Amino acid sequence: MKPKRILSAVIAFAISVTALTSCGSTSHPDLYAYDEDAPSLYEAFSQWFKVGTAMNTSDLVEGSEEMEILIKQYNVFTLENESKPDAMHPSEDVYNFDALDKLVEFANEYDKTVRGHVLVWHSQCPDWFFYDDDGNTVSADVLVERMKEHITTIVSHYKGEVDVWDVVNETLGDNGGLRDSMWYQIIGDYDGDGDKYDYIEIAFTTAHEADPDARLIINDYNLEWSEDRTITMYMMVKSMLEEGIPIDGIGLQMHIDIDFDVETCKNNVEILMKLKEIDPDFVIEITELDLSCFSWSDQSTEVELTDEFVEMFDSLYSDIFEMFIEFSEAGYLDSVVMWGYNDGSTWLNSYPVSGRTNHPLLIDEDYKLKSAYWSLIDLAQAKSS
Ligand code: XIL
Repeated sequence: MKPKRILSAVIAFAISVTALTSCGSTSHPDLYAYDEDAPSLYEAFSQWFKVGTAMNTSDLVEGSEEMEILIKQYNVFTLENESKPDAMHPSEDVYNFDALDKLVEFANEYDKTVRGHVLVWHSQCPDWFFYDDDGNTVSADVLVERMKEHITTIVSHYKGEVDVWDVVNETLGDNGGLRDSMWYQIIGDYDGDGDKYDYIEIAFTTAHEADPDARLIINDYNLEWSEDRTITMYMMVKSMLEEGIPIDGIGLQMHIDIDFDVETCKNNVEILMKLKEIDPDFVIEITELDLSCFSWSDQSTEVELTDEFVEMFDSLYSDIFEMFIEFSEAGYLDSVVMWGYNDGSTWLNSYPVSGRTNHPLLIDEDYKLKSAYWSLIDLAQAKSS
């Protein structure tokens, strides 16, 4: 990071602390995320964990507000879509490295960390992996070879440059148990040892061979509230670690909403962290955090941001980051990545209800710092004093 930027961030943090002590915790200056005087989210939490965001290479325009925000506020980056299998390896002989190359170059220049998302997934994965030229499903041998080639080529290309890989994403079904994906169906119990998650084992082993220093993550959703999914994940990873499969951690996506329960999440993380008995360095990472303003079953497209609602939303964000601090202090966690950096471009404006206006992040659609952002700065300040 450039010394000038460090200095301005330190000054900004001091300003926010002064504002806090002189005006009370609810009064904060009206600032944009790229303002010189704005604090830095990642610096505020640096004693506990890195703070990152998903982004797109279109954000990396020198001198733009978008790029200034990324540089100032976050120190871990992942591409929202451009490094998924359909983007990076659309057909057998075509690899597109340009987008991730661009992110790596940016990260090297500004001393940031890169998460590679994602090598193996059932979604946003082209059909050519699973079918031959006649449209028939390929054999397990063919799919294993294709997967190995895919992983080896990509991970080797970024050896020493991409620090963390989501090796496999969403291996569990909605209600626990293994997802019935094409990977699972075709590769199945490849080594004949009785379990059917061999595609996961082969993926991790292959990624580790290509870059032994990269942190390798198995990433999934709803682990923060579903005990069934948590236990399935725990059992599966435990058995793989006991077999010596090189998995370094579990990614909790954390696409959560206003019904989020901190205590349930803590319980589930305690279950997962029993894996430290096998590998003391085993971690969790928060990989895709956003906090929807709508309950899951709510189909509406607008939410009224009353003072009461905003207060509830901000204090929930603060409780969540306080929980992350606890996880960090217990040695569980060193990275929290948000799924986007402003409400204007969040995927939650079109998922799971299209045409929605959601407000799940810390910076609004005009790039102004939201009160939720300030509640986190206040938290970091209170916890570090
Ligand atoms: C989402 C992107 O944000 C969207 O732009 C895209 O249309 C679909 O995928 N879990 C993941 C992410 O692991 O890759 C997904 O990203 C969100 C859910």
